[in-house]
Amino acid sequence: MKKIVLLGYMGCGKSTIAQNLSKITEIPFLDLDVCIEKKANLSIKEIFEQFGEIHFRKLEHEMFLELLQSPEKSIIGLGGGTPCYANNHLLLQRDDLDSIYLKASIDTLYNRLVHNKSKRPLIANMEEDEMREFIAKHLFDRSFYYNHAQHKVVVDNRTVEETVQDILAVLA
Ligand code: S3P
Repeated sequence: MKKIVLLGYMGCGKSTIAQNLSKITEIPFLDLDVCIEKKANLSIKEIFEQFGEIHFRKLEHEMFLELLQSPEKSIIGLGGGTPCYANNHLLLQRDDLDSIYLKASIDTLYNRLVHNKSKRPLIANMEEDEMREFIAKHLFDRSFYYNHAQHKVVVDNRTVEETVQDILAVLA
């Protein structure tokens, strides 16, 4: 059975949507960030602080490959940056998985991230007024990689339940 890989910018709802999708389909959910944290025995924030982003990207790539290698069916939730490093975007096109880009607008992302930035090292220390511009530029840069996903689901103005139904529809 194919694995399901959910991707998208920080704050697009990957984890919440994956948890709901997991409940409905009874397919186990694996959060890439959580797997990295468990293996390193450190939080993502601590990995960034102690070893830097480049080291984090290496762990992220290795863990993504490890999760893809396991034979069990699973829903894998990537980190916002995963597709953008180490040629991970090419892995999104493998035949043995379904990759889905959860696409959110700058406004949706800003509204969700402005109060949820503390655990996210890339934006944790950013002032609110610089954050919108940062998201806009960053999303533009990253879209090239996100668009390598096999499917796209727009999450703006959709409830988690509606998005889960949208995902099931694209996978049907
Ligand atoms: C990152 C997103 C985070 C986490 C790390 C880097 C990124 O995951 O992997 O802080 O580069 O966008 P979420 O998208 O789950 O916040």
